[in-house]
Amino acid sequence: MGSKSKIMGFLLEGINQVHDGRAICDLFSGSGSLAGAIGQQTSVHSNDIQTYSGVLADTYNRVFRDSETPTADDLIAAATEIVMKRKFKVSTDYSKEMSLTEFNQIETQQKKFIDAKFDYNWHLFAKCYSGTWWSYEQCLWIDALREVAARFEKRPIYPAIISSLMFAMAYASQGTGHYAQYRDAKTESSFRDIIIYRKRSISQYFRRKFNDILEYAPTDPVTKNHRSTSLDFKECLGVFEGGTVYADPPYCFVHYSRFYHALETLVLYDFPQLQIQKGSVVKGRYRESRHQSPFCIKSQVAGAFADLFNGIRKSNSSLVLSYSNTGMISLDELYQISRTALPNKKIEIMTIDHQHMTMGRKEDRQRSVKESLLLAF
Ligand SMILES: C[S@@+](CC[C@H](N)C(=O)[O-])C[C@H]1O[C@@H](n2cnc3c(N)ncnc32)[C@H](O)[C@@H]1O
Repeated sequence: MGSKSKIMGFLLEGINQVHDGRAICDLFSGSGSLAGAIGQQTSVHSNDIQTYSGVLADTYNRVFRDSETPTADDLIAAATEIVMKRKFKVSTDYSKEMSLTEFNQIETQQKKFIDAKFDYNWHLFAKCYSGTWWSYEQCLWIDALREVAARFEKRPIYPAIISSLMFAMAYASQGTGHYAQYRDAKTESSFRDIIIYRKRSISQYFRRKFNDILEYAPTDPVTKNHRSTSLDFKECLGVFEGGTVYADPPYCFVHYSRFYHALETLVLYDFPQLQIQKGSVVKGRYRESRHQSPFCIKSQVAGAFADLFNGIRKSNSSLVLSYSNTGMISLDELYQISRTALPNKKIEIMTIDHQHMTMGRKEDRQRSVKESLLLAF
């Protein structure tokens, strides 16, 4: 959600305009699209409050193959061994004909595993997510591959293993591309659709992505000084040595932490307290302490941008700020805040018509465009 990969050319044009050869920081790196686009040419400090983002950026830029790198077969064999050892709470054959009622009975039973006791440690997904975005069996596989990944935590291949698992989770999920809400099988047609995802194999999708990554991974250690951090943007600007900051903060009221909490939990694997409402776990099974971004809260958004511009001034950096006209603040207001906080900088607005991909500078007609860049240098 919000990946800038489709307008990367526009973004790079903005960055080239202000870049003075010093370091580059992607302050809200999300899917790591900038790290992926320029990481071969220059070092990138990728930062995002969500930890999974750093894993994606590291997959682009810090993974390399060495003589000890496992193959997909090695990893899947190790996970198979783990899955086989588990005492199955249920076993469901989703390829067999079943009615909507039968299916929903199984789903209800699996959802109750949240209250079950497990006699082994790596059971977070089986406990918290069975019968939601994934079936119990798919959760067993997610837990098993995560357990195998942990054996490689200190090795350069680790981010690739976790990213491949994120990929498999996404393709097997019965949700709509994120983890805010899973679907309920209320009708025959939604049941038929959900079952397509229940039949998907986590290990097969994992294999596909892991092999893709291995094909592209370099065989020598990466010499560029890439970094990834999971700091709040203010803290990150406090430690950034100064250079060019690309900032793509959230632009609407939806919190990323609500959409991608399951990825965060996969990476942290920390058995979080889940949000409770009226005595029971809320349907989305969100992490209790998930981050609420000031950029997504109407009363805080102007202050958050002021903090961002002040951090740019203090770190003596240039800024490329993405702005979408679906945002929570007008471009005029943003411009005024930047003028006050950065009195000694030149401020320019670049705009792009996202649909037609025609680039230009149209300071007066910001509202008619979809995407803009505010440059401060
Ligand atoms: C629009 S997305 C960035 C998308 C990214 N440019 C890409 O191409 O994938 C905004 C990101 O800001 C992060 N974020 C929200 N509040 C933050 C904060 N206070 N500090 C750091 N990151 C934050 C979110 O986790 C989300 O990944």
